Amino acid sequence: MNRPIGIFDSGVGGLTVFREVVNHLPHEDLIYFGDTARLPYGSKSPEAIIRYSLECATFLLEQNIKLLIVACHTASAHALEILQEKLPIPVIGVIQPGFELLMQSTRSQRIAILGTESTIASGVYQNLIRQHYPMASIFAVPCPLFVPLAEERFFDHAAADLIAAHYLDPLKEANIDAALLACTHYPLLKRSIHKALGPSVKILESAFTCAEQAQAVLCLNHTLNPQEIKPAYRFYATDHPIRFSTLAKTFLGYEIHLTLIELEKNKKV
Ligand code: DGL
Repeated sequence: MNRPIGIFDSGVGGLTVFREVVNHLPHEDLIYFGDTARLPYGSKSPEAIIRYSLECATFLLEQNIKLLIVACHTASAHALEILQEKLPIPVIGVIQPGFELLMQSTRSQRIAILGTESTIASGVYQNLIRQHYPMASIFAVPCPLFVPLAEERFFDHAAADLIAAHYLDPLKEANIDAALLACTHYPLLKRSIHKALGPSVKILESAFTCAEQAQAVLCLNHTLNPQEIKPAYRFYATDHPIRFSTLAKTFLGYEIHLTLIELEKNKKV
């Protein structure tokens, strides 16, 4: 019950999920892990992403977590099922929550998924949507340059507007009414994405729905933390501690204490 929840992402982007988990579960101790040494996951092979995800999960399991949240869409797309199979604790990802939110939000079922190359190539969102909504028109767009733009904090920058227009202008013809930001970094570029897609398109992110799901899992398993004292938050990354801390301040609005760690090579769950 009083064990922490573990959250991992390839980098700092998963702090959008961390923030929502704090809002939904204010009594829970949380451990955030960003695999910054190996970011971006989005351009790696499925095999590499699975291996990295298992190593991140192993580290968090060693911290005695009671629930694992895979905040990274790319890791969720490729490694969620394996993690659910191998880990002795509940594991949730961001795909199902994003899918549910998207399909609740669209009226026309003309929708876009914006994600990393690897997430889009996995077809995980497209398959899930087709399975439940065979009539939906899905426009899946990889936007690889959004991650470095977000990392460079080009949130309000003409370069971000140009690149968003480059990726998203073709969607204007598609007449979509909702777009899912299926990458943890993309919410940081929401302003440029909104500009490119126009005001009639709802722009959605799965962090809120993912935190709701985490809350539901803990309720169901009777593992909510009853503590009344201020919860403990721990942050770990595998590289770039200053960049991580600076970006974390942008995401969270406060300074964090970050511990740098090195994952042991070839360690398996
Ligand atoms: N965190 C990744 C995701 O949500 C994006 C960044 C990366 O490519 O590592 O898909």
